[in-house]
Amino acid sequence: MSALSKNASYIREKVQAHNRFFEDSIPLIASENVISPLQREMLNSDFNGRYAEGWVGHRYYQGNVFVDEVEQKGMEIARKLFGCTYADLRPISGTVANMAALFALTTPGDVIATPALSDGAHISTAKFGAVGMRGVSTVNYPFDTRLMNIDVEGTRKLLLKVRPKLALFGMSMFLFPAPLKELSDTFEEIGCTVWYDGAHVLGLIAGGQFQDPLREGAHVITGSTHKTFPGPNHGIILSNPRSEEMEKSLRRAVFPGVTSSHHLHEMAALAVALDEMQKFGRRYASQTVRNARALAGSLHDRGFTVLAAEHGFTSSHTIAVDVRKLGGGSECAEKLEKANIVVNKNMLPGDESSVHPSGLRLGSQEVTHLGMKRGEMEEIASFFERLLIRGEGVSSVRKDVIAFKRKFRKLEYCYGEGYPAYRYEKFLGRA
Ligand SMILES: Cc1ncc(COP(=O)(O)O)c(C=O)c1O
Repeated sequence: MSALSKNASYIREKVQAHNRFFEDSIPLIASENVISPLQREMLNSDFNGRYAEGWVGHRYYQGNVFVDEVEQKGMEIARKLFGCTYADLRPISGTVANMAALFALTTPGDVIATPALSDGAHISTAKFGAVGMRGVSTVNYPFDTRLMNIDVEGTRKLLLKVRPKLALFGMSMFLFPAPLKELSDTFEEIGCTVWYDGAHVLGLIAGGQFQDPLREGAHVITGSTHKTFPGPNHGIILSNPRSEEMEKSLRRAVFPGVTSSHHLHEMAALAVALDEMQKFGRRYASQTVRNARALAGSLHDRGFTVLAAEHGFTSSHTIAVDVRKLGGGSECAEKLEKANIVVNKNMLPGDESSVHPSGLRLGSQEVTHLGMKRGEMEEIASFFERLLIRGEGVSSVRKDVIAFKRKFRKLEYCYGEGYPAYRYEKFLGRA
C-alpha cells in the first residue's frame, strides 16, 4: 500500500483536528447539525459517484435498479411525513432547491414578494442571489421588529397593490411562524402561488412544531436537509401542486434545470433521515424548541439583550441576541470561538454592515441532538455570562466548556443512539 504523501497526511490530520474541535465544543450555529451512524454508512456507500439522471423509473443511465428502489422509498416517506403529494429528493442543497423553484414558478421579468435580507431572508432569495440571477425583481414585506415577524396588515396591503405571481416566505433568522394563515384569504384573492423556504425549520415542521405550511396556504416548500432537519447536506422540494403543469415544471426544473447527478449517497442518507424523523422527530423537535426558549430565557435573566423578549423570545430553534454593548457580533463570536463555543455573528433589523453586525444568532438543534436539556441550557448561558459580561479569561471558560462537552458527544433521536457524533464508527445496526 502506498504511503500517504505529506499533503494527504496534512489534509487528513486537519479533518481529524476539526472533528476533535467539535467534540470539545458547544455547537450553536442555527444552520448546522450532526447525523446518525446509519446515515454516515449511506454516505460511505457506492452510491457516491454514481449517476441517475431523470426521475425514478425513467433514468438516462443503467445501474440504477437499487438507487430507484431507495429513492422511491425516500419519496414515499417524505410524502407521508410532510403530508404532500409531491416530494423530490434530488436538489443537492437548499439553494439548488430554491433555484429549481424559481425556474418552475417564475419567468424573467416577474416581480415576486419576499422578506428583506436585512430582516433575516437568505441571500438566495434576494437580488444578489438566485432570485436576481433569474432576472426576477422583488418587493419586500414590511417587518415588525418588536414581533420579529412580517407585519401582517402591511403585507396584505402590499400584496393587494403589487399582486405578485409568487409570494415567498421563510428566512435564515426565523424566530416565529410566517403569517400564512392570516394572509391565506389575500393569497386566494390575488391568486398567487405561495412558496415557503423551510431551509431552517424543516426538522421542526417534520416534528410537528413551528407551523404546517402546506396546511396554512403554501403550495411549495423548499428546504435544506441538514439544519434543524438532521440529515445529510442536501435539499428537498415538497408540494401539493396547484396543477399538473406545476408538478411537471417543478420536476423539470430540478432535472435537467439545476442538477445532473443528484448525489445519490446523500439521497440515500436523506431517505434514512426521513425515516428517523418519522420515528424520533416529534420528541427531537419539541425538545429543540423548549431548549431554545430555555437558553434565551437564561441569557435574558443574566443580562443579555435577547430579541422578542415580550413574545417568548422564539418559537423555533433560533435565538437572536443584540450584543452591540458587548463589542458587537464579530468580536463576541470570535471570543466565544476561542472558548470553544461556536456561534455566528448576524445582522439584526436596522443593521447595515454584515461584517460588523450587532447580533449573534444561536440555534438549539445540534445540542438537542446530543441529548442536552433545560439544565444544560442554563450551563451554556452561564458560559456566555462569564465570558462576555463578567469578562472572565478565555482559557478558564474554555477548560470548563471542554469538561462540560465531554458528557455530550453522543447522539440521541436516531438509530444508533449513544454512537459518537463526531467520529464515524461502522454502524452495526441493532434490531
Ligand atoms: C432560508 C434559507 N434558505 C436557503 C438556504 C440555503 O441552503 P443551503 O446551504 O442548503 O444551500 C439557507 C441557508 O442557510 C437558508 O437559511
